[in-house]
Amino acid sequence: MVCLGNICRSPVAEGVLRHIADKKGLKLLVDSAGTANYHVGESPDKRSVANAKKNGVDISMLRGRQFHVRDFDEFDHIFAMDESNLKNVLTLARNEEHKQKVELLLNTIHPNKNLPVPDPYYGTEKDFEKVFELVHKACDEFTERLKEN
Ligand code: 4NP
Repeated sequence: MVCLGNICRSPVAEGVLRHIADKKGLKLLVDSAGTANYHVGESPDKRSVANAKKNGVDISMLRGRQFHVRDFDEFDHIFAMDESNLKNVLTLARNEEHKQKVELLLNTIHPNKNLPVPDPYYGTEKDFEKVFELVHKACDEFTERLKEN
């Protein structure tokens, strides 16, 4: 799960995907990262932690890290929160196989629509709630697909 800072959106997506995978009995290696390095080593944004907790997901133990080119080898799927993150990740891809792993998270529920998980950093509690709702829907759909395969 990749966003810009790895403190607002992608830690929520990481926590939610892990939570849903556990509930559905899927063994997945889940992680998140930011394309930028501003918040490396930091806890997720307090507002993301509080909102996730309210919705039953603990992300307080997560720490920020920057996306690294080796992530293309470690992971089968790389989900970007918005088109800017997508572009930044694709810039680091070294081959076609890597590029094929990258997609916008919300394209799992709205194919080809290229919708973003909007950045809530300058937003309100409502924007953080929206992030949770969107990533939850996408992770639920993604894990259903994995169960089918
Ligand atoms: P995120 O949100 O990409 O969802 O983690 C942001 C976090 C920090 C900044 C921007 C967006 N920032 O500019 O520091």
